[in-house]
Amino acid sequence: MVILGASGDLTKRKLLPAIYHLERVRRLPARFAVIGVARTPQDDEGFRAHFAASLREFAGVDAATDEVAGSLASRLSYLSGEFDDPRLYRELRERLDQIDGAEGVLFYLAIPPNVYGTVIEMLGASGLASSPDKGWRRIIVEKPFGSDLSSARELNRLAHRHFDEKQVFRIDHYLGKETVQNLLVFRFANGMFEPIWNRRYIDHVQITAAETVGVERRAGYYERAGALRDMVQNHLMQLLTLVAMEPPTSFTAESVRDRKLDALLSVQPLIEGGQGLEHVVRAQYGSGWVNGVDVPGYLEEHGVARASTTETYAALRLHLDSWRWAGVPFFLRTGKRLPKRTTEIAIQFRRPPLEIFRRVSPSPVTANLLVVNVQPDEGISVRFEAKLPGMRMQLAPVMMNFRYKAAFGGDVPEAYETLLLDAMLGDPTLFSRHDFAEASWALITPIHEAWASGRVGTIPQYEAGEWGPREAETLIGAEGRRWRTL
Ligand code: BG6
Repeated sequence: MVILGASGDLTKRKLLPAIYHLERVRRLPARFAVIGVARTPQDDEGFRAHFAASLREFAGVDAATDEVAGSLASRLSYLSGEFDDPRLYRELRERLDQIDGAEGVLFYLAIPPNVYGTVIEMLGASGLASSPDKGWRRIIVEKPFGSDLSSARELNRLAHRHFDEKQVFRIDHYLGKETVQNLLVFRFANGMFEPIWNRRYIDHVQITAAETVGVERRAGYYERAGALRDMVQNHLMQLLTLVAMEPPTSFTAESVRDRKLDALLSVQPLIEGGQGLEHVVRAQYGSGWVNGVDVPGYLEEHGVARASTTETYAALRLHLDSWRWAGVPFFLRTGKRLPKRTTEIAIQFRRPPLEIFRRVSPSPVTANLLVVNVQPDEGISVRFEAKLPGMRMQLAPVMMNFRYKAAFGGDVPEAYETLLLDAMLGDPTLFSRHDFAEASWALITPIHEAWASGRVGTIPQYEAGEWGPREAETLIGAEGRRWRTL
């Protein structure tokens, strides 16, 4: 595995710990080796120290005494150089040639998006994109995959100039989360949910990805991204399609990804002819309290422009043009500095057609609800009505809960472990295909264009520690619906 961007944050936080855990559970090939590549000048020992620091901080492991870490460290090496310098790629080729019997090479682009193009081009030009006699070659491209429709198309074109689509793995770490994968199992390995998974029984769907963290030290990236590019275009669209897709004919990468693409293509364009912005809300956090801590507003964060209009919150109302979902709105929301870190999908069912308890029970019937808790308390819950014990006929909603930890124990692999392994095995099921990335940008880009046109006025604010702006309540409330209280 070649990690391009080996001295960066992603490598330290996610990739090196994931490699360690994979080795620990013996899922890596016996002759697995890592070559770290980055601009930072350092030698192999420096990279090994970086590895040890990463394990200490993000895996709670002391590399000096841990056998697995020790064995892996001996298989780490490092190359420094500029990403546009052909010398770097020549040296990389020589290094790879020295490794005998490799099954293949996985290039991980853990680099800033503005150098993706250069690196892909250089890998291609230096002959590293294929090697008929030395096994497979694959690349993993981190998000953001482009910043709008035309840049995503351009990136796809460039990637396809040097690599086959089946060599390209566009990562969306939400797809590696256990609960997200479980959506496929829940829907398509059970017979009882699919018949009611449609407009006849479902009133609407809410998908929430709430974070308590602020922009942290990522203003350089986030200022140009914002919540829509950072979370909606990728993670939330993936969740939406897993909920909305038709059953694939088999659990194969192309069948699953074809059905997801169909679902995405069925989403009605949000903005047409400059109209439709009422279906999208953006906002920015002001100062406030989160988990008992006094936190600054977005505009006071380090590296943020004082007049920035970058959104840290976004909410959308989507409609799908399909027989299954016609008339069922999908509400998506995500934000930073919200009161709680939680990601969930809530399927809100319709009320029963006839309320026969209306006269005897003082409390009105609560409609059924199915909640998929993606994180942090992974599980699935169903809310239904029950009779309160007692002489009178009184109803109350109760929850039936399935919790991963209680059912299967606590050891759930990290998303990056699952995805790295899949890429090594050549299984793209949990990766974004080129057409999915483009279809998703096709929905999002017109919103950015409308915002950029200046016709939209100022960006609403919400207090840190609150559930977003008032405008988001209006967005969902038009037909008497409400966001769930989480
Ligand atoms: C990343 C975003 O893709 O996902 C971050 O760039 C966000 O801004 C993160 O914080 C959330 O991931 P998770 O796994 O913590 O929900």
